[in-house]
Amino acid sequence: MKVLITGGAGFIGSHVVRRFVKNHPDYKIVNLDNLTYAGNLENLIDVAKETNYIFEKGDIQDQNLIEQLFQNYQFDGVIHLAAESHVDRSISDPFAFARTNIIGTMVLLHVSVNAWKDNFENKRFYHISTDEVYGSLGESGFFTEETPYDPNSPYSASKASSDLFVRAFGETYGLPYVISNCSNNYGPNQFPEKLIPLFINNIIHKRPLPVYGKGENTRDWLHVEDHANAIDVVFHQGKNKETYNIGGWNEWKNIDLIHLLGNLMDNKLRRKSGDYQRLITYVKDRPGHDLRYAIDASKIAKELGWKPKYTFEEGLQQTIDWYLSNSEWLSNVTSGAYQDYYKNQYLDQ
Ligand code: NAD
Ligand code: TYD
Repeated sequence: MKVLITGGAGFIGSHVVRRFVKNHPDYKIVNLDNLTYAGNLENLIDVAKETNYIFEKGDIQDQNLIEQLFQNYQFDGVIHLAAESHVDRSISDPFAFARTNIIGTMVLLHVSVNAWKDNFENKRFYHISTDEVYGSLGESGFFTEETPYDPNSPYSASKASSDLFVRAFGETYGLPYVISNCSNNYGPNQFPEKLIPLFINNIIHKRPLPVYGKGENTRDWLHVEDHANAIDVVFHQGKNKETYNIGGWNEWKNIDLIHLLGNLMDNKLRRKSGDYQRLITYVKDRPGHDLRYAIDASKIAKELGWKPKYTFEEGLQQTIDWYLSNSEWLSNVTSGAYQDYYKNQYLDQ
């Protein structure tokens, strides 16, 4: 099989590329990424020289390039992860999210249809999406595959829109597709703008920990390797035109998660127990901040036999250890443009 993976230099994409390159040595894996602030080839150093792996630098909105790649490699499958992925950035620059997440996805869909339309057999377009398309839950209930879309942020609206275009290309042009909607991921290589790596980095440097609102928002956390494993399973065994929700059955209120993380960090850094607590700083809430996400992941468990392997504590320990032993990675990604982002987001309020 020849598989195009988009966004493979990012957080989740790099784990997916590694898994496919190592577990499927008979496949050719082409990673297309335009290396935004979130894309980093250092994430893939260990697979860069594998003979079944190729990196192509480019933008998913560039139709000529995508056509050229289809021509050169004759892909059988696309696993589409490239996206603008951070809610706070979508609030300050929503158009960037429409361009990459909607238009970029449409370009990939359009070129895939044209390349495959004479024979869709054994072809697959796999779109990676998020549970945020379902909007916000109250205190109870879960998102299932039947929950109506109700996105609240420009990020989730752009992902919801791209999901609907995937579906429409399936219905209208016959494109064989599958979609999965996953909960919040954490793990090695995540850019330190998202909650867990941001707080790990800030605890290391004894910087304030900016908690939005009252810290009562709830997220369902899944280790990125469990997500990559689920993506492998859905790509190979998922049914055409189906959606699969992927989640960790692992809900945490932000403030409880921050205490768990802070205690683990103080312990690892051999600081006085509870030292992190003086860093906690309540700041202005995110506009349109979804209260609670929680995935009902029983369909993928029942139909495809997938379930997460990491317990949360194990996963967090492994993640913290990774950031502590990859201080060069962390200081590389937090130099330059990151400083401007940080100042805008947290210091100029
Ligand atoms: P990320 O921001 O870490 O990585 C995105 C990657 O896409 C980067 O390597 C970036 O360079 C690349 N990219 C961005 N715009 C591009 C463009 N126009 N052309 C080519 N490449 C481009 O994101 P992530 O957290 O790894 O998320 C990957 C996917 O998974 C996204 O589609 C996201 O919506 C989805 N998702 C993420 C989470 C999560 O918790 N992080 C949860 C569920 C679903
Ligand atoms: P984030 O990692 O941005 O993921 P998402 O918004 O896509 O769920 O945020 C996770 C939760 O943490 C969310 O409720 C917002 C909150 N949060 C903070 O309280 N402070 C922060 O600095 C960040 C980045 C997030």
